[in-house]
Amino acid sequence: MTLRVLLLGGTSEIGLAIVGALRLPAGTQVVLAGRDTQRLESAGKALADAGLAVSVARYDATDVASHQAFADSVSAKGVPDLVIAATGVLISQAVVAADVPQAASMITTNFTGHVTTLLAFAALMRARGSGTIVVLSSVAAIRPRKFNSVYGAAKAGLDAFARGLADELHGTGVGMLLVRPGFVAGRMTEGMAPAPLATTPPAVGAAVAAALDPATLRARRTGVVWVPVPLAGLATVMRLIPRPLWRKLER
Ligand SMILES: NC(=O)c1ccc[n+]([C@@H]2O[C@H](COP(=O)([O-])OP(=O)(O)OC[C@H]3O[C@@H](n4cnc5c(N)ncnc54)[C@H](OP(=O)(O)O)[C@@H]3O)[C@@H](O)[C@H]2O)c1
Repeated sequence: MTLRVLLLGGTSEIGLAIVGALRLPAGTQVVLAGRDTQRLESAGKALADAGLAVSVARYDATDVASHQAFADSVSAKGVPDLVIAATGVLISQAVVAADVPQAASMITTNFTGHVTTLLAFAALMRARGSGTIVVLSSVAAIRPRKFNSVYGAAKAGLDAFARGLADELHGTGVGMLLVRPGFVAGRMTEGMAPAPLATTPPAVGAAVAAALDPATLRARRTGVVWVPVPLAGLATVMRLIPRPLWRKLER
């Protein structure tokens, strides 16, 4: 059986690292979905060189009214076995405070657009009785900081939605892997000083690949993948810090 993989955010450094780390068999169909066809095609070159059957699809996370039709159209050639939800933007708090529509755009891209898209794919996977959804959440979902309240709120919403959807899908044959990386050095964080326990796209890719069965792309276990693993402990400490102290943190 030929496997079918959909990467939402087809140029995402983390998303592409996950697809690469899966070491998919030649002929696996990979759909890179995003806004810019040219950039998607150049992002897919390395995967095509590795023998994968790469195609690109137009997808705008903010065009929520189009997401059911997008899911139906992608699935016309076969419901994906794996959907990786890697779409996201990081717009600084200063920028969104000065230009508030950008806050709405970030929330739609990082939260609402995932909800509308993943609800549509979850229903299609559920009807077939199989499939895996990988959601890129973040340590930022755990506790909002004054420096990223909008990004953090969107990630907290996405994280909560993914956990609820995972419970809804339990027992249907459809699995959910919720990935919570910390600071990932790359395009999204360019120019920012690395946070403690910073990681890289290949490290996130390897952690996600290790959590999936390469033959079927089913999650070996459902639940949360922290990258790196010790971040789970740091997140527990973050939750316990008293608020008067938390608000004094400098980043
Ligand atoms: N980097 C980190 O430190 C970090 C940490 C934790 C979690 N995450 C999350 O991991 C995911 C991937 O991040 P990354 O580091 O791989 O960032 P990235 O390389 O900047 O990728 C982001 C992707 O989102 C796409 N995108 C943005 N707005 C879109 C829209 N309106 N419609 C469709 N696609 C859109 C971008 O497409 P274009 O090519 O069109 O811009 C790009 O493919 C994100 O959800 C991010 O929040 C990142």
